[in-house]
Amino acid sequence: MADKTAKLTFDGKEIELPILSPTAGPDVLDITKLYAQGGVFTYDPGFTSTAACDSTITFIDGGKGELLHRGYPIDQLAEDSHYLEVCYVLLYGELPSAEQLEDFENRVTMHTMLHEQMVYFYRGFRRDAHPMAIMTGVVGAMSAFYHDSTDINDPWQREVASIRLIAKMPTIAAWAYKFSIGQPFVYPRNDLDYASNFLRMCFAVPAEDYQVNPILSRAMDRIFTLHADHEQNASTSTVRLASSSGANPFACIAAGIACLWGPAHGGANQACLEMLEEIGSVDRIPEYIARAKDKDDPFRLMGFGHRVYKNFDPRAKVMKKSADEVLELLGVENNPKLQVAKELEKQALSDPYFAEKKLFPNVDFYSGIILEAMGFPTSMFTPIFALARTVGWISQWKEQLADPKLKIGRPRQLYMGETMRDYVDIEKR
Ligand code: SDX
Repeated sequence: MADKTAKLTFDGKEIELPILSPTAGPDVLDITKLYAQGGVFTYDPGFTSTAACDSTITFIDGGKGELLHRGYPIDQLAEDSHYLEVCYVLLYGELPSAEQLEDFENRVTMHTMLHEQMVYFYRGFRRDAHPMAIMTGVVGAMSAFYHDSTDINDPWQREVASIRLIAKMPTIAAWAYKFSIGQPFVYPRNDLDYASNFLRMCFAVPAEDYQVNPILSRAMDRIFTLHADHEQNASTSTVRLASSSGANPFACIAAGIACLWGPAHGGANQACLEMLEEIGSVDRIPEYIARAKDKDDPFRLMGFGHRVYKNFDPRAKVMKKSADEVLELLGVENNPKLQVAKELEKQALSDPYFAEKKLFPNVDFYSGIILEAMGFPTSMFTPIFALARTVGWISQWKEQLADPKLKIGRPRQLYMGETMRDYVDIEKR
């Protein structure tokens, strides 16, 4: 219960609103009764000051640049844990015992194959379809193939759908890539870990054996961890809103994938690498920084800025360190895009415009450099983000369904259109 309140006085009314205290972060003004008591709405396009739910999964301290998953700092998880263990923490709230982790990993492993009929679904796309278009379609179509895990009121079906989505997303993403390059689909293997399986499904060909490079699989796994969940970002909020109507889990995750695709969100990793390619050399950086500062130029530095972080995105720090390690181990440490990215970061962070607006590199700034060095085309960057974020979407989806306060999400509006007026026959207009 709230132990503090806020008083709102207007139009001769005085309304007392509860102030809710979180375990971390700013207090929250509870306005659920505002319209009933005061006859007014609040107005907050983009939800810059609005908490849409309460949650126990992930917390971001934007000022300090901290990210916690169930209280565990992202830099510790990226260093000491691995993606499927992070999935367990996000889904169930605690670090697993060895037995719990083994059971969870086995359950995921047993669900990595797709219904064979879905192979024909892929064939309906043009070969040049963007892999995100394919993922959005294929994941939405899963509700037509996995009827026995679509009933959101059945806890067992919710659990099966969760495991299926986490387990099958690498296969779906890898097959989207294989389809786009005209190579045969590679099936998952039960003797490989999650990241190694994904790399093999992407890069193996039937003509020869594929040996997973342990450096790449460790880097891939870390990239998955860094993208796993991030509070109520646009795509997670999309999943929550879709789920609030009672839509099945596959439809909700497909909605999240569609939202993530945008260049202001998960599509920024592809846009960032394309920006680094366009800049081309460090001597052109000042020109692009000037464009980013120009109010009349729509250009923005991709991979820079964040709604919540007003300090370094902790994921960007880990990603930058991993980029150095992976590119050095691959013998491409002189990658021109990495040099441009580092110099761009240095010049931007020393520019008053970026300092005043608290614009720092975000998770998308360095990820593309690693992914390109691993052999992925830019079109696969956002599908990899979607693959990794699936566990975050699922965890938030499960949390919302378990919330007794759950209602359908239905925002109101500040109406600025025409008031009532009569229809005029065309002869009289
Ligand atoms: C992700 O929400 C999440 O948690 C997302 C995410 C996750 O894990 O789910 O972290 C993943 O989406 C990371 C962000 C990836 N997007 C990009 O890198 C695209 C480039 N960044 C911007 O488009 C922007 O910074 C956003 C979209 C990320 C945040 O936008 P906001 O919070 O709405 O901020 P804003 O657009 O109001 O910008 C504030 C000011 C503006 O200037 P003024 O109007 O105040 O004069 O900063 C400027 C902006 O013009 N600005 C930039 C800039 N980002 C903001 N100027 C130049 N380059 C930029 N990148």
